[in-house]
Amino acid sequence: MISLLAMLLLSSSFLVSIPAKSTILPGQSLGFSDNLTSPDGNFVLSFFQSSGMSYLGVNFSVSQTSIGPKAVWVANRDSPLSTVGVNLTMDADGVLKIVPDAGSPIPLNPTQASRNSSATLFNSGNLVISELDPNGTEKQILWQSFDYPTDTLLAGMKIGANFKTGKNWLLSSDLSKDVPATGGLSLEWNGTALNGAGELVIKRLGQVYWTSGAVTENQIANSDLLSIDSLTSLYNFSVVSNADESYFSYSVASISQTLWVLSYDGFRGYRGNLMVYIGVCEGDNISAGCMDPQPPSCRSQGDSFELRSGMFNRSPWIWTSADNNTFTQDNSGKQEAIYILKVHILKMASNRSSSYKWWIWIIVGAATVFLVIVLLNIMWRKRLRDKEREEENIFLELTNMADAEDHGHDQEKGGGDGGGVGKGDLRIFAFVTIKEATNDFAAYNKLGQGGFGPVYKGRLPEGQEIAVKRLSRSSGQGLVEFRNELVLIAKLQHMNLVRLLGCCVKDEEKMLVYEYMPNKSLDSFIFDEGRRGLLNWKCRYSIIEGIAQGILYLHKYSRLRIIHRDLKASNILLDEDMQPKISDFGMARIFGRDVSEANTMRVVGTYGYMSPEYAMEGNFSEKSDVYSFGVLLLEIVSGRRNSSFALGDRTMNLLGYAWELWTQGRSIDLKDPTLTDFESISEIQRCIHVGLLCVQEHAADRPSMLEIVVPRQQDRGPSHPKYSGILKCDLSHTEISKQI
Ligand SMILES: *[C@@H]1O[C@H](CO)[C@@H](O)[C@H](O)[C@H]1NC(C)=O
Ligand SMILES: *[C@@H]1O[C@H](CO)[C@@H](O)[C@H](O)[C@H]1NC(C)=O
Ligand SMILES: *[C@@H]1O[C@H](CO)[C@@H](O)[C@H](O)[C@H]1NC(C)=O
Ligand SMILES: *[C@@H]1O[C@H](CO)[C@@H](O)[C@H](O)[C@H]1NC(C)=O
Ligand SMILES: *[C@@H]1O[C@H](CO)[C@@H](O)[C@H](O)[C@H]1NC(C)=O
Ligand SMILES: *[C@@H]1O[C@H](CO)[C@@H](O)[C@H](O)[C@H]1NC(C)=O
Ligand SMILES: *[C@@H]1O[C@H](CO)[C@@H](O)[C@H](O)[C@H]1NC(C)=O
Ligand SMILES: *[C@@H]1O[C@H](CO)[C@@H](O)[C@H](O)[C@H]1NC(C)=O
Ligand SMILES: *[C@@H]1O[C@H](CO)[C@@H](O)[C@H](O)[C@H]1NC(C)=O
Repeated sequence: MISLLAMLLLSSSFLVSIPAKSTILPGQSLGFSDNLTSPDGNFVLSFFQSSGMSYLGVNFSVSQTSIGPKAVWVANRDSPLSTVGVNLTMDADGVLKIVPDAGSPIPLNPTQASRNSSATLFNSGNLVISELDPNGTEKQILWQSFDYPTDTLLAGMKIGANFKTGKNWLLSSDLSKDVPATGGLSLEWNGTALNGAGELVIKRLGQVYWTSGAVTENQIANSDLLSIDSLTSLYNFSVVSNADESYFSYSVASISQTLWVLSYDGFRGYRGNLMVYIGVCEGDNISAGCMDPQPPSCRSQGDSFELRSGMFNRSPWIWTSADNNTFTQDNSGKQEAIYILKVHILKMASNRSSSYKWWIWIIVGAATVFLVIVLLNIMWRKRLRDKEREEENIFLELTNMADAEDHGHDQEKGGGDGGGVGKGDLRIFAFVTIKEATNDFAAYNKLGQGGFGPVYKGRLPEGQEIAVKRLSRSSGQGLVEFRNELVLIAKLQHMNLVRLLGCCVKDEEKMLVYEYMPNKSLDSFIFDEGRRGLLNWKCRYSIIEGIAQGILYLHKYSRLRIIHRDLKASNILLDEDMQPKISDFGMARIFGRDVSEANTMRVVGTYGYMSPEYAMEGNFSEKSDVYSFGVLLLEIVSGRRNSSFALGDRTMNLLGYAWELWTQGRSIDLKDPTLTDFESISEIQRCIHVGLLCVQEHAADRPSMLEIVVPRQQDRGPSHPKYSGILKCDLSHTEISKQI
């Protein structure tokens, strides 16, 4: 009815100042000293001054209570005006705004406006701008001060959130007693806390500082703070949580004198008198809902600031409490006020103890690390010692065996050997020595790829050239097998066997160190178009002799009976005098003296050189080496590879071709065309015959190496290293069987 009356007055353009005016209409203004008063007179909307600034606010005006005049809502708390020349005006569009004489107007409802509207201060203390029907009744609420709480929660106000509008209702404290600007504390509603029961939360600068505990209808969990008895009789709580909004509010039977205020110094609940006070949580007092505060890292709990006046004698930033001379207290009040941080003594002590603990932990940690390092070092050393011992054992074994060989079998060895193995003959090389000698196994030092790994050329510091066979890790050779091979090769000392200088074992790496053969292997001569002419018959014959001697030694004169199993041109190395040296004992097998044949499941070797019984059934014996020797012989004579032999369009291997020529009586045609010394033709023919004898299909038909080679007794000895006339086979007595 008041609105209707006001509208009637407006329509008649007759502005009457009536007492207890509660509504303002479009076109109307309130001056600085005017007011809107709620119908019951408890709330007054007016301008007021605080600390020299002007604000528009709703005052709780009941002065006979302990509350006193109190602004329960401030329109421009963060936009204070420095003037009293200010009006509150509702313009023709229905926007209510604070219009100062200088500066821009502050609209309260900039967007939620309607031409037919009014602003009314209700008994609840809510200033509501509503749209009106033409007959003067409220059509809808456009804006209300309860949606913009400041530091006071009145009955019916909500704190929480409206999910539809995104609006957050919360109280925020004033900055200080006289400055209503937004301060550091906030009272918020967390509807999702405590399994949906929800709780009131006071935050300071965004950090949770106090919590109420679960809030339900008429009950707040934090009972030592808000006495349930008094609360339930004082307020009725309303906790609402639905899809649209989640909020807390309270109601009272009579709203007068009931308000909750969040001040800069804490929370107060009034109902006539002060009922509840939650002071600013001091220090580390975490009782009554106070959360454990997190002070800045430079401060400890319990530290407090003290106001002093005085002066620093030196720059403040080097001042310490221990030095009294630098700060002079001046109680006259003339000096500037200074806040001094008083460090909490107990905290200091506990800090010291905690930093002391910190040091303990550092010391313990360092000691642990040290111990671990020492232990690891000991273990590593032990492992290294074990390894060294193992290598030493191998070395001792090797040298012992070498000694035995030296003393017991010197006579058995082929002559011209120049002596056996002495203790110092087999060296255990340090890995670094090998590494440096081969220039860290440089690719340009790689001589070739053997069956068990690459071979590198190297030069020892003393100048000797070596060949290092680096047994590949994948060769599956363990240390035991490696030792066996080493022992085997170490025992084999013959001028036509490549000489082992020593070995090197480094972790997984196993290396054999041989003398270096500057002329590489036989295949690099006889199968090379450009180089095979370098080998005249005399030279080839000497090579054949040497190979035969070497094999004979393996089969007959070494204490162990050894089947090489991989005789081929590339395994015949040539020294600087073109003396052949059989190499690569990776596949060699030791035979007992009483065993003449063995069988293996794993046929290893090189096709073209493998005897039929070995290639097909895995049977091997001395005669399989003889077969390989025969192939080698024919290859040396012909300068052609058995494996890649082609004759026009006929698919026939070298052996078949040799056999064919032999049956046609023109075996001499097999010889390498570069061989032109005709006085040797009979010798060449003899070799072809022997070769063909050696490659006969049945092992039993093949001659033994002893039958092929018989050294002349008078030629033995160091002064006559060569053998001549060694091929004594009388071919007329033997029939050569057809080759496959
Ligand atoms: C509000 O204004 C009326 C006059 O319009 C005046 O009588 C009353 O005292 C004022 N109230 C306050 C609290 O200033
Ligand atoms: C309104 O409240 C403020 C602060 O609480 C007070 O200083 C002022 O006097 C009050 N004004 C009226 C008109 O009650
Ligand atoms: C406030 O309203 C009065 C009277 O309507 C007017 O004289 C005065 O100029 C207005 N002041 C401002 C700042 O608008
Ligand atoms: C506003 O009120 C006037 C008369 O009071 C009426 O004629 C007009 O239709 C109203 N406008 C709206 C949008 O309600
Ligand atoms: C005012 O008019 C609206 C329709 O515009 C109607 O719903 C309402 O009942 C009316 N109120 C009164 C008090 O006549
Ligand atoms: C509400 O409380 C829950 C549980 O304490 C917490 O995980 C969540 O972060 C809080 N929500 C807000 C907005 O503070
Ligand atoms: C709380 O509500 C109940 C029933 O709605 C009412 O009887 C009681 O008086 C209310 N208490 C307060 C403090 O408003
Ligand atoms: C801790 O705070 C509670 C409630 O504010 C108070 O009763 C108590 O005396 C305080 N304790 C200390 C040690 O300050
Ligand atoms: C510093 O002053 C305090 C009291 O003012 C005194 O107790 C303390 O012994 C002084 N310290 C030194 C180092 O002079």
